Formats: sequence, C-alpha cells, structure tokens
Amino acid sequence: MNDIECATDFAWLPKVELHCHIEGTMRPATVVDLAVANDIELPTRDVESLFQYEDLTGFLDVFWLVQSVLATPDDWERLAFESMIDGAAHGLRYREAFFTPARHLAAGQDLGEIIAALDRGLDMAERITRARCALILDFDRDFGAAAADAHMTELVSLKRAGRPGTERVIGIGMDSTELGVDPMSFVSAYSQAPEAGLRRTAHQGENSGADAIRAAVDGLGCERIDHGISIFEDPELVRRFADEQIPLTVCPNANVRINPGVVADLGDHVFPIMRDADLLATLNTDDPALVGLDLDQEYALCAETFGYDTGDMVAIALDAACASWLDDCDASVLMVEIKAAAAGAARAAADARSAAEARPLMPLSA
Ligand code: ADE
Ligand code: ZN
Repeated sequence: MNDIECATDFAWLPKVELHCHIEGTMRPATVVDLAVANDIELPTRDVESLFQYEDLTGFLDVFWLVQSVLATPDDWERLAFESMIDGAAHGLRYREAFFTPARHLAAGQDLGEIIAALDRGLDMAERITRARCALILDFDRDFGAAAADAHMTELVSLKRAGRPGTERVIGIGMDSTELGVDPMSFVSAYSQAPEAGLRRTAHQGENSGADAIRAAVDGLGCERIDHGISIFEDPELVRRFADEQIPLTVCPNANVRINPGVVADLGDHVFPIMRDADLLATLNTDDPALVGLDLDQEYALCAETFGYDTGDMVAIALDAACASWLDDCDASVLMVEIKAAAAGAARAAADARSAAEARPLMPLSA
C-alpha cells in the first residue's frame, strides 16, 4: 500500500526481481498482527508511521524490528505467501529473494524449519499466481563471520540431506552494515559455496567504496553485486563489469529513500550512467513494503525520471532474466514471455492510435 502516483504503468510487463529482501516485503498490517500474536512490542501500531527512518542505520533498525516479529514457522510461511501474492499483482514473474535468518537462529529458531516454512508459503502462492521464487540465504554482517560460517555449514548439510525446501535455496549473499566491514572476513563461508552448488552475491557499494565491490568479486567469488552504486570510483572495474557482464542488482528508489545522504534524488542516481556504460544493471525494489513502492512503480518512476521509453524498459526486464540464476532454458522461457508481452503492448498502442484517428470529429455546435 502506498500513495505514489505514476503516469506510466508497467504492470503488463512480466518482471524479474533479483534484489528483494523477503522480510522487507512484509505488509504493515502483518507486522502488527504478528507482533500482537508473538507479544513483541512495537513503537506504534499505526501502520503509516511504523516504517519511518532517516538513513541506512535507521532503516536497518526498522528492518530488524520487522524481522523480530517472525517467531514461528507459520509466521515465515505467511510472510512468503503474502510476499509473492503482492509481487505478482504488479507483474512479478520470477524473484530471487533474500532471507536473513541470523537473528532468528541466534534466538533459537531452526534453519531447516525456516526454509521449509518459506517453501510452503511460496509453494501455495505459486499455485495461485504465475510467479515463481527462489531463495538466497543472506548473512547479516552485523552477526559476524563466525555466524556466517555456521549458517553456511548448516545450509550445506540441510541441502545434502534433501530437507524440504532446500532446493529452493540457490545462493548466498550478505547484507546489513557495509561500513567498516572487510568483505574478505567472510571468505570462509563464501568458499564453501561452489562445492555445494550455491551461487554467490553480496551487498556492496551501497555505502562502501569500489574497493569493497572488487573484493567481493575477486576475493569472495561473487557473480553478482547488490547495489554497486559506488563502482564509478574505479573506472577499470567499470570496464571489467561491462566486459564480463557481471550483473548489478540496483535499487534506485530504495537508495533515495533509505540513504538520502548518498543519493538525494532519483534524478541524481547513477542507474542511467550504468546502463550507458553497458553495465548489466537491473531494477529492483530492495524492500518494497518498507520503502513504500512496488516493482511496477520502480519501473515507472525510473522510466519517467530517466526518460526511458517502453523499449528501454523491456530491455531492462530482459536483462534481469539474463542476470538471474535460472538455467538457460528457464531464462529463455521468461525472455520469450517478456518479448510477447512487449509485442502485445505495442499492438494495443497501435490499435488505440488508429481507433483515435478513425473517430469522427464532434461538430462544434451539436
Ligand atoms: N537489508 C535489507 N535492506 C537492506 C539494505 N538496503 N542494505 C543493507 N541491508 C539491508
Ligand atoms: Zn538489499
């Protein structure tokens, strides 16, 4: 729910989202419901004022508060179900969603139960919508490298045991505070990924420098970077990302709302410069409920602000399918669907134009 008005509408465009925290999709009403059910104190039950913050630190406090209401497997299941129902309503067809269970595991929850519950909720939503969702286990940097190591070991053993839902977990990432954290301190957890068949990404360059982006790619083996907006500090790295088409999962509106000290206005965002530099830069919401906009609005606001036409937005949607961790066959199916929707939208626009031209003019004095 939000009050953003966009002149354009991309609900018709099948969209792929690669940077979205499932906890950040939680409906405000669900936050309140779960807080009451689990006896967790909220600063307010006024859904409008619950999601208020001034900067990344304040935002993370709200994010952690939202996470804290997830106390039982049923809560995770409900979150996953509602998340995909809400996404699909705005043209989402495929998402690779982060979940960050560090604080829940520290509080005694069980990783296998969390994954199974997320899987149940996603499965139910997938039966109702045409949208699909894979999961990425994010390490919370605030909990440190030892916790990441332990979570990685647990994930690998759950996957090896074929525990329910673990086939949905296709990769690892890390989020939360970037400043003052050396990405290389997480090398032990990341180095276990290839053998377990897990893909690798990391939040870097949201408020860390290009050196941290480079370390994530070279030192941790990341195949994608989440945010990456500081990449232009290092022109050689920009060329490398363009040459190797290393994807960046960019969240322009979230950057403005969460981090106005870094990106004051959507018009100041480097997203169009990334696209002009041939970077594989995709559009994402990050935390749609907390940021107050859906993926359709993300596309519409970026189109309006950066002067993109329908063809540009279709190209961005296709790039997201290409940057996904789907196998080639499934990615191609999505691309065909995106192209078919684009062709349909072009036909509808042409029909509307000819209908308008064929309409007889109203006489002035009828
Ligand atoms: N967790 C959820 N959203 C985040 C963001 N934008 N940056 C870091 N950690 C996050
Ligand atoms: Zn994020």
